[in-house]
Amino acid sequence: MTHDKILILDFGSQVTQLIARRIREAHVFCEVHPCDVSDDFIKEFDPKGIVLSGSHMSAYEEAKDVAPKAVYELGVPVLGICYGMQIMASQLGGKVISGTQREFGYAEVVTNPASKLLGGLSDSTDESGRNLLKVWMSHGDKVIEMPIDFKVMCSTSSCPIAGMADEKRGFYGVQFHPEVTHTVKGKEILNRFVLDICGANPDWILGNFAQEAVERIREKVGTDEVILGLSGGVDSSVAAALIHRAIGKQLTCVFVDNGLLRLHEREQVEKTFRENMGLQLVVVDASERFMEALGGVTAPEQKRKIIGRLFVEVFQEEAAKLPNARWLAQGTIYPDVIESASAKTKKAKTIKSHHNVGGLPETLHLKLLEPLRELFKDEVRELGCALGLPPKMVFRHPFPGPGLGVRILGEVKREYADLLRQADAIFIEELRLADWYDKVSQAFVVFLPVKSVGVMGDGRTYDWVVALRAVQTSDFMTAKWAPLPYELLGKVSNRIINEVKGINRCCYDVSSKPPATIEWE
Ligand code: XMP
Repeated sequence: MTHDKILILDFGSQVTQLIARRIREAHVFCEVHPCDVSDDFIKEFDPKGIVLSGSHMSAYEEAKDVAPKAVYELGVPVLGICYGMQIMASQLGGKVISGTQREFGYAEVVTNPASKLLGGLSDSTDESGRNLLKVWMSHGDKVIEMPIDFKVMCSTSSCPIAGMADEKRGFYGVQFHPEVTHTVKGKEILNRFVLDICGANPDWILGNFAQEAVERIREKVGTDEVILGLSGGVDSSVAAALIHRAIGKQLTCVFVDNGLLRLHEREQVEKTFRENMGLQLVVVDASERFMEALGGVTAPEQKRKIIGRLFVEVFQEEAAKLPNARWLAQGTIYPDVIESASAKTKKAKTIKSHHNVGGLPETLHLKLLEPLRELFKDEVRELGCALGLPPKMVFRHPFPGPGLGVRILGEVKREYADLLRQADAIFIEELRLADWYDKVSQAFVVFLPVKSVGVMGDGRTYDWVVALRAVQTSDFMTAKWAPLPYELLGKVSNRIINEVKGINRCCYDVSSKPPATIEWE
């Protein structure tokens, strides 16, 4: 089945992915591609409309990215956002200047009632009864002359051309960002663009996705066998459930217990996938091997490398036992795809280096099956629920590939991992009980390899210290420490110190990212 598609060309804004999210929320399928794709690519993509994203660049400068010519020649509507509007103006014969001051933050634009995109929308009215929209601006440059046939669509006192439109050709530009939630009517504006102006069919519905994906997987794989590294995380779990629904016993999942998992994690995975779902699951207890390899190693990067390399080794050994496997399935999701595409073209200014357990596709010589490649995280979660995975698993906080290995500072020892697991389980349990689990993006305990003096009953203790970490973030690239209530912190600390023999002190990490990172290593 083919869907109507919107093409988003990425000029490197940090919020390009949000444009895609908003459009998908309108049930219209869209994809993000780098802004320098070829004209042929655009024609072949056959979009119902095109969105040009914002950028950290200046449209005023000489060395700037421009939109491919096909964007303006295809005969489909185009929406330029911020830099996208400026580049549209400059490419079609208008004029952009470097603004004397940056406009950053909320602004109110007066809208032109005749505009198909903005007309009739309003958050309030001014004294003359004109509609006002509350929008989010973030720009230095501005358009001072519109290309021929364009009319002003909205304005502010400092930015007279805050939006422009050539309704006849369906070309629109807005200086503000409709994709961020700060622009109150942003979602409606994007809905209008894709549904009314582009006429895209709102047929991107996740319930249908599952069925379509099942058919695609069957068609692709035929009677071949597929192998998947199941980590217990959301993405690989949903991929496993989906592929299992498509091809049942042709799928084998391999779960590697590296000794760095959370409390009862292995049992939970076995229960969900083997017992409840009837999925073919191989569980490898490689904890001894991991512990041995990590012995005496304290440097964080070295630890990460060892864990990653060993995982590949263990997985390869298991894969060798399945000589008929032709496909390697992975839970790659759309943000991973966009990130690695923009990392290649270096469009975005800063991208988190991708530190996942990698190396499998190259070494195994298997074909890749990535059924979640098109989905955003919340779509993956929705799909997971639709496939019957337990909500507790689907909405679980992310857990890093190297697991507790990056949460035990310095040398990793089994004894430390055991203490950390217990402490971590208490923290998570209390967060759930206090209804805080879903209010934070990630929470965990870190084991500090230092001892401190304490007193318990009448005796002196000399035991280990742990730190609690809880952060709130939307993208994990920046994060704030979570303002957990003192009573909750007190209760967690009390329980950990009383229940976990070997820990006598608990701290709360109040560093944000940047400059700290979320994990301690
Ligand atoms: P940092 O510590 O870089 O973490 O602020 C950002 C997010 O990434 C997760 N993380 C990892 N995830 N493999 C993963 O799959 C890794 O090696 C890894 N290191 C960090 C971290 O838990 C946080 O959500």
